Amino acid sequence: MAMSSTPQNTENSFIKKLKASGRSLIVFYGSQTGTGEEFAGRIAKEGTRYRLKGMVADPEEYDMEDLIQMKDLPNSLAVFCLATYGEGDPTDNAMDFYEWLQNGEADLTGLKYAVFGLGNKTYEHYNEVAIYVDKRLEELGATRVVELGLGDDDANIEDDFITWKDMFWPTVCEHFGIEGAGEDVSIRQYKLTEHTDSVPERVYTGEVARLFSFINQRPPFDLKNPYLAPIKVNRELNKGGDRSCMHIEFDIEGSKIRYDV
Ligand SMILES: Cc1cc2nc3c(=O)[nH]c(=O)nc-3n(C[C@H](O)[C@H](O)[C@H](O)COP(=O)(O)O)c2cc1C
Repeated sequence: MAMSSTPQNTENSFIKKLKASGRSLIVFYGSQTGTGEEFAGRIAKEGTRYRLKGMVADPEEYDMEDLIQMKDLPNSLAVFCLATYGEGDPTDNAMDFYEWLQNGEADLTGLKYAVFGLGNKTYEHYNEVAIYVDKRLEELGATRVVELGLGDDDANIEDDFITWKDMFWPTVCEHFGIEGAGEDVSIRQYKLTEHTDSVPERVYTGEVARLFSFINQRPPFDLKNPYLAPIKVNRELNKGGDRSCMHIEFDIEGSKIRYDV
């Protein structure tokens, strides 16, 4: 992490990156084995649903003094997903940032932030890094937008994260006046293009490998060349009640498919 007062170059200035790409949400991670990084990625991605375009960032790769300027970016939010290791220590990639927070006196007034910690209750220094960062950012003048979330790897850290995230988005939306808080707006990830010039003989209609393999069924059959076995018997075994158990028989005669039970 570069800590200098000289003008930053674009590469390690996350503010410049955010501005250049029209983003206002940055999610930093302190992670050793990837969980924190994965959580950070999910938050950044979900931001699109709430018109908060996000990016994931490794604090080691950026000039964290940029946090001072975050306030100049409208509707901006910095999220930190931070794991604790050792004697309440940060991960290697968050070490410089942690020391900068501990030793520096940056004025972070106007910075809006939220922290999610990753830890394990069986350790003496449970989630100490996240607890400290959450407190220290406030001491330096920043505004906590969402209450600190703590994940316990000894129980189910995924559940802890989801529970926190379910509260995170409505709170963020309310804070920034974003309408449709909590709505699961779908993100279009495809484009529909109608091709009128295609030759029907060359168009796949669900075949995995060979064109028309569903019409011209030829052995050997396998995952890539599935056999469309007719269903011989299909009946409900349970009589009455609200449970269902079907007995289904497939006719594989002539297919040369063998199976063991
Ligand atoms: C060697 C080791 C030391 C750890 N020390 C702590 C600790 O002191 N406090 C804590 O709350 N969790 C501790 N943990 C738990 C991790 O923080 C937790 O598993 C976390 O989910 C890891 O996140 P990551 O995959 O992003 O690195 C430790 C885990 C390991 C493997």
